[in-house]
Amino acid sequence: MSKVLAIFGATGQQGGSIVDHVLNDSGLSQQYKIRAITRDATSEKAKQLKDKVEVVHGDVLDRSSLETALTGVHTVFIMTAPFLSPDVEYDTVKTIADIALEKDAKYIIFSTLPSVHELSGGKYTKVTPFDNKAKCEQYIRGLPIQSAFCSLGSFMENFESASYLTPRKEEDGTWVVALHVSPKMQWPLVNAVRDTGKFVGAILAEPDKFDGKTFCGATKLYTLEEMIATMSKATGKDITYKRISPEEFRERMKLPDGLADLFMEMIAFLDETGYFGPDSEKLVAWAANNARGKLSTFEEYFEAHPLRLE
Ligand SMILES: NC(=O)c1ccc[n+]([C@@H]2O[C@H](COP(=O)([O-])OP(=O)(O)OC[C@H]3O[C@@H](n4cnc5c(N)ncnc54)[C@H](OP(=O)(O)O)[C@@H]3O)[C@@H](O)[C@H]2O)c1
Repeated sequence: MSKVLAIFGATGQQGGSIVDHVLNDSGLSQQYKIRAITRDATSEKAKQLKDKVEVVHGDVLDRSSLETALTGVHTVFIMTAPFLSPDVEYDTVKTIADIALEKDAKYIIFSTLPSVHELSGGKYTKVTPFDNKAKCEQYIRGLPIQSAFCSLGSFMENFESASYLTPRKEEDGTWVVALHVSPKMQWPLVNAVRDTGKFVGAILAEPDKFDGKTFCGATKLYTLEEMIATMSKATGKDITYKRISPEEFRERMKLPDGLADLFMEMIAFLDETGYFGPDSEKLVAWAANNARGKLSTFEEYFEAHPLRLE
């Protein structure tokens, strides 16, 4: 009998990738029966899912809905929505994990991130979406249930919206990416929509082998120089890198203080320590080697999603 796989965020990038991966993998689709969890089973995205999988109402802020949604599950994929406040994020993950345990689930897969606070020796304190997920991960690791973790690099999809990473036209007509760090800085990039499922699929295929393991999920580490060269090739524009002061970078981002602090610290941390810490390269290579399928390159991302600079 197939095992029920509950997927939080099934209408979003990571969860949707897992749904697609499992459905397109003959082995996994026989082993697992997907239960997509959404706040609104009547939304357009939920309706599209209903043709393919079971769709169940569940709101992470409403405990009773989770008790219903997690009844009879075997494996639960937990991710959190962007920019939940740190306390809410921790409480919701704890609640989901506790209910999964009460409902006799056998395995939790959590979309985690590394603790920037810890890896920076306490220097950085404002990268809360990372630190907080690491705290959630520790909670899950302490529970009497098998678990594995997917810690994703920066999404290639960010380049559709992240204004500080996409090239900007300067007054002299040149295209520039400007940050306060070295152009040699390495950034792990992942095509979240196409490839999250390849990491989580590996765990689903061999849950015992990957019990306790973390997939630092990215295609590879790209230097800023490589990223800019790829964007130049993809757009046919001559894009250059300019190293600016932290103050200029803050000004350029034009974000509210909390978010600006977060990105300033995150990028400085990447430059000094590496996204997944000093072993980033090894950790990313291990995850890529164990992923279930070939991972998409940054070049391929822009072939499918042309970057328009106007
Ligand atoms: N951007 C990056 O570079 C990056 C890198 C690593 C990790 N991350 C992390 O990735 C996460 C975002 O993942 P994503 O991009 O896959 O998300 P997404 O595409 O924005 O989708 C969010 C999902 O969360 C669900 N959701 C929102 N509120 C909910 C609630 N109260 N109860 C139940 N479900 C809820 C939504 O489902 P419904 O609307 O159907 O309810 C939707 O499927 C964030 O935590 C972020 O920190 C991002």
